[in-house]
Amino acid sequence: MAEAKKLFIKTYGCQMNVYDSERMAEALGASGYVTTDSADDADMILLNTCHIREKAAEKVYSELGRFKTLKAANPELKIGVAGCVAQAEGEEIMRRQPLVDLVVGPQTYHRLPAMEQAVRAGQRAVDTEFPEEDKFEHLPKGPRAIRAPTAFLTVQEGCDKFCAFCVVPYTRGAEVSRPVARILGEARDLVLRGVREITLLGQNVNAYHGAGEDGDWGLARLIRELAKLDGLERIRFTTSHPNDMEEDLIAAHGDEPKLMPYLHLPVQSGSDRILKAMNRKHTAESYIRLIERLRAARPDLLLSGDFIVGFPGESDQDFEETMALVRAVGYGQAYSFKYSPRPGTPAAERAGVPDEVASERLQRLQALLTEQQYATQDAMIGREVSVLFEKPGREAGQMVGKSEYLHAVHVTNPKVQIGQIARVRVMGRTSNSLAAELV
Ligand code: 5AD
Ligand code: SF4
Repeated sequence: MAEAKKLFIKTYGCQMNVYDSERMAEALGASGYVTTDSADDADMILLNTCHIREKAAEKVYSELGRFKTLKAANPELKIGVAGCVAQAEGEEIMRRQPLVDLVVGPQTYHRLPAMEQAVRAGQRAVDTEFPEEDKFEHLPKGPRAIRAPTAFLTVQEGCDKFCAFCVVPYTRGAEVSRPVARILGEARDLVLRGVREITLLGQNVNAYHGAGEDGDWGLARLIRELAKLDGLERIRFTTSHPNDMEEDLIAAHGDEPKLMPYLHLPVQSGSDRILKAMNRKHTAESYIRLIERLRAARPDLLLSGDFIVGFPGESDQDFEETMALVRAVGYGQAYSFKYSPRPGTPAAERAGVPDEVASERLQRLQALLTEQQYATQDAMIGREVSVLFEKPGREAGQMVGKSEYLHAVHVTNPKVQIGQIARVRVMGRTSNSLAAELV
């Protein structure tokens, strides 16, 4: 047998990219590749890229430049760019960076084995189509390669919302939901391989409407069906749009014990004027009412969000309204970004806010969000939570896992094992995690 070729994949951006990278590794596994943790001994390097903000895309080009010496040392080394930068820039990547042999978008990576052959034959290959066929149907059907008790499972891709700042509808395409039976099959396989927590992924996951045997299923019904799987203990989903938060999904937070009390629900801004300019199609008020309904269903729900500051036209008053919304909601954790114009999106045509102003706003918003995050963590001290342990921690004898609320929790106790779910008492916090003891 020929010696296995080595594949190094570096993943940028969102959790869907993490999932896609695993599928790409499996697709190339069928062509004789095994993954390696180091670019230095690789026969193929794939960068699975993110285009959501400018910095994310620029990182890819600087990373590619660094592979020059590797390629000089090993002429057989092939370099590929996958993901959303690949989709958005296509051939342009080949022009800008002659080191690149292969460019593949998020909807065509099931074609990687054929592209790999072309590349080995000395060609350069680009495929950024949005094909008719479903890539999942053409990917290897064997069991997924699993090493952890938690896993991602893509149930929906693409977005039809067209927020004025966002590239996702262009890089990932229109909303497509995978059929129920395929998702259940993949989930069963994960559970058989020791997975106890599944996070359902989609760019707009709560818009899920997949074909079931008796018509269209929404996300809540899918979650309730998954919850019936013995051995699967925890279900999460991300990312959602407020307008797709339907009644049965809100109810599931209260009555489905396997659905974890953590919800990432981006609002982006607290100003109705800016929300309108962003084409978000909801108001600050309607978002706050929605949070109230969710908390009525599940009072201890931990909320996470996304915010953009310095969107074109954002005044001091608009920004203060964002601060007021944050105070009204109370987030357990959140992500916030300075607006970054993305080529091809409607907002990119509009005059921006001066950078110093945006930076100052971002600082103030992040200070408030961090304060809320710490307060939420501090409120956990003395409480009992259950933790699914995922990996050894930094210190000797330490294990780290996640609470129901997605807090990182570490425990030092030789009895704790990876994959175990245990009740612990929170004793203190460091900046990004909680320290706990077994009860
Ligand atoms: N500039 C800044 N932040 C953005 N996001 C999406 N597009 C942009 C952009 N052009 C943020 C949004 C989204 C998160 C994934 O990234 O907050 O929810
Ligand atoms: Fe982008 Fe999310 Fe808006 Fe869709 S809903 S356009 S993915 S920010």
